[in-house]
Amino acid sequence: MSSVKPEDHFKNIISHCKEYGYIFPSSEIYDGMSAVYDYGQNGAELKKNIREYWWKSMVQMHENIVGIDAAIFMHPTTWKASGHVDAFNDPLIDNKDSKKRYRADVLIEEHVAKIEDKINKEVEKAAKRFENFDVAMFRSTNARVLEYQKKIEEINARFKNAMEANDLAEVRQIIVDCEIVDPISGTRNWTDVRQFNLMFSTQLGSVSEEASTVYLRPETAQGIFVNYLNVQKTGRMKIPFGIAQTGKAFRNEIVARQFIFRMREFEQMEMQFFVRPGTEMEWYEYWKKARLNWHLVLGLGADKYRYHDHIKLAHYANAACDIEHQFPFGFKELEGIHSRTDFDLKQHEQYSGKKLQYFDPELNQSYVPYVVETSVGLDRLFLSVMSSAYKEEVLEGGDTRVVLGLPPALAPFKAAIFPLIKKDGLPELAEKIMTDLKFDHMVTYDEKDTVGKRYRRQDAIGTPYCITVDHQSLEDQTVTIRHRDSMEQERVAISQLNSILTAKTSLKSLLSQL
Ligand code: GAP
Repeated sequence: MSSVKPEDHFKNIISHCKEYGYIFPSSEIYDGMSAVYDYGQNGAELKKNIREYWWKSMVQMHENIVGIDAAIFMHPTTWKASGHVDAFNDPLIDNKDSKKRYRADVLIEEHVAKIEDKINKEVEKAAKRFENFDVAMFRSTNARVLEYQKKIEEINARFKNAMEANDLAEVRQIIVDCEIVDPISGTRNWTDVRQFNLMFSTQLGSVSEEASTVYLRPETAQGIFVNYLNVQKTGRMKIPFGIAQTGKAFRNEIVARQFIFRMREFEQMEMQFFVRPGTEMEWYEYWKKARLNWHLVLGLGADKYRYHDHIKLAHYANAACDIEHQFPFGFKELEGIHSRTDFDLKQHEQYSGKKLQYFDPELNQSYVPYVVETSVGLDRLFLSVMSSAYKEEVLEGGDTRVVLGLPPALAPFKAAIFPLIKKDGLPELAEKIMTDLKFDHMVTYDEKDTVGKRYRRQDAIGTPYCITVDHQSLEDQTVTIRHRDSMEQERVAISQLNSILTAKTSLKSLLSQL
């Protein structure tokens, strides 16, 4: 394994994404746009495969979940009803010296994370000193750890109360009391905290007097809520049932750093699960588990995921948690699971004047269903897969390689086909193999440079298999197949290639583990 420094690791991933056609800065010839990115030829394939894994796991594998594709523009009242016009805000604070703007909640969360790091260091130190070390016992008795823990609880409680009371002066005071400094200027010269709405707006219609303000949707979920009755009736759906959707969402993010982690234009994959009131906690627990399992099946490492239960609940939720992933810059939210109660449907009933109820034949009663939502960002998932898959390896003999250990079912190409040399009929046989395979698999052909160099190129884009056609192939219709991760090679019959690739690289290999 390479000894690359953690701070360089993330930079290397970003450069790799650009160099190998995964992600480019948007409109780069004009110097790009902050927090907007384009997916290149390999990125578009990887993204499509992740989306398909999600869609099939939700829609194809569940008889009671259907998928829709709602428009990005929605009637403006939608956003009034959902609470986004009034409450989809970030509390922002500026540092007067650096003139940089920050999310006040992020500053406080990062401060708390630093105290948590101190606790972890105490635990690590003690674990080295004592045999049969009991972490739980140490955490509940060590004076310094208890003091840190108390500090964290105090800050979290103060912050929760301040946000619930919309007391922005108190939020500022927490930042002052915690002695949080601006990482750029190093000073504590803070402005007041202000609320800033994250929705992008534009005008609909060509005549200005008739034009009305519309928003670019900040989440796909509302397209599902407003279609709840259409889908329930036309699909004759019985509760519990789900509606899934993937699509673009837009947020005017202020803290837009960390590559594709936080973007202004991004894609969400959301599923609203409509349930009988009173059963929502059961379903919340069910989806919490099911969604973590979905991530684990990717095989990127169980230790890279954890739950984070919310202290500060969004205006629509009675329970919420994140599935966090260990990104190169630490554990951060990857997916949200929210028990949204009947808030959204009730709000839409109130604002539209239309009943959005369900007649439950078992109870012989109508009600507004409760909703459990699973919501994951496709781009963020892309980053989690890419950053776990990217490896810089030092091989035996000192040679190095960069390899993307992508789950084979997600890799842009499933196999690359090489003729060993560019003569003696080898290219013709390789091309024939390629032509036969491409009906079922994404495959690519390469005849340039040595086979070693061709292997490295495919390792760098994460192609799980390289198939080499040599002189023996002409005699006995066999080829070598080289495995990306182990770099081992075996000889197989050409006639078996299709079934090998299907078994190892189809989405079924993931879906069957769910
Ligand atoms: N409908 C609920 C909802 O939108 P959220 O926690 O605001 O909840 C859900 O967003 C997921 O969308 C997040 O867990 C994250 O993966 C993704 N996401 C949110 N904002 C994002 C952004 N600015 N850039 C990339 N992904 C984002």
